[in-house]
Amino acid sequence: MNNPFVFGKVVRGSNFCNRKTEIQAIIKTVSSKNNLVIVSPRRYGKTSLVINALERNNIPFLFIDCSNLINENVFLERLTSTYLERLKKGDVLEKIKYLSKSVNIEYTFSVEGMSVKVAKYNDSSLDKLIKQISKDYVLVFDEFQELFVLDVNLVKRLRSVMQFVKQSFIFLGSRKHLLLYLFSNQKSPFYNFAQMINLTKISEPEWKAFIKAKCIKTKVRLTEDDIAAILKLSEAIPFYVQYLSYHFWEERIRDLSINPTEIIKKIISSNEYIYEELYSRLTESQRKALNILVKEEDKFFSERVLKEHNLKNPQLLNKALASLEEKGIIERNGRYQFNDPLFKQYLKFINQKV
Ligand SMILES: Nc1ncnc2c1ncn2[C@@H]1O[C@H](COP(=O)(O)OP(=O)(O)O)[C@@H](O)[C@H]1O
Ligand SMILES: [Mg+2]
Repeated sequence: MNNPFVFGKVVRGSNFCNRKTEIQAIIKTVSSKNNLVIVSPRRYGKTSLVINALERNNIPFLFIDCSNLINENVFLERLTSTYLERLKKGDVLEKIKYLSKSVNIEYTFSVEGMSVKVAKYNDSSLDKLIKQISKDYVLVFDEFQELFVLDVNLVKRLRSVMQFVKQSFIFLGSRKHLLLYLFSNQKSPFYNFAQMINLTKISEPEWKAFIKAKCIKTKVRLTEDDIAAILKLSEAIPFYVQYLSYHFWEERIRDLSINPTEIIKKIISSNEYIYEELYSRLTESQRKALNILVKEEDKFFSERVLKEHNLKNPQLLNKALASLEEKGIIERNGRYQFNDPLFKQYLKFINQKV
């Protein structure tokens, strides 16, 4: 029997839980040719959501990942190669010929597929490519804020091309403050350009039904306590719900007597080396800041808390929190949260040991 829980890749069909309202909102926006920006921390399910919404409604789209771009050239390369990969073999050569008017493309075919190099481009390349591609596809830009970090000017030019295109664009991103700036600050090029969806977690009752259905189907029993432990520890963040359910399922298929806390300990200790490494690379005040978040309910900046955790002043804590946010370890969403709830649990465990 295969483990029915899937993490770390796009989930579809019965592996995809709910998100009905969000799917409706996406379809509505795309049908009316408006633009959309979807914001959430990593691993909440942005990519899976958009892909499910568009696929289920037969809307052709291209998915462009904006992380790890080094310059405009590489961005154009990603656009062209993603576009060409989608075309039928016969169309490819024809399109290459067509696109060569705007960008100078070198390409090779191999068993793995096609590889594209943009040898030369000019001022109007971006314009022409975007217009050509969006004739047939909705463009989805993943981690869009990275493009803005890379090259503000490129983003400005992109905006001026896009405003003349009668097709939707979808932007996804996980660095909230940058996206808020980009899409809702009057001074930003993308001000008021797209409707914003703040993608939240999936509710506990929906997860419960989802997990139970998987258990029934595979005839493996997770107890009510197991499910409660999974939801508590994962904080209902989609990736971690699937991740923990996966490991609980692996345990329960052979051992019904072990209790949920023991299972969690096993999972955390199998990841210990990753967390150790992460922790070891932090500065003293970053570690203190994390321990404050683990141990204290609130009032992080109070004199008592600072004193107990041996931090000289509130500015130091502020700086440490900002750098942890920059590293993607925590996120401020009303309050500070760990992006990886298992890392938080790991810190709790090592605190208990000392
Ligand atoms: N609607 C969903 N139902 C079930 N699992 C989901 C759902 N959305 C996301 N996940 C889980 O979370 C993981 C990360 O989702 P992903 O779409 O890559 O998130 P993001 O793009 O926000 O980083 C997936 O591999 C899957 O395990
Ligand atoms: Mg993603």
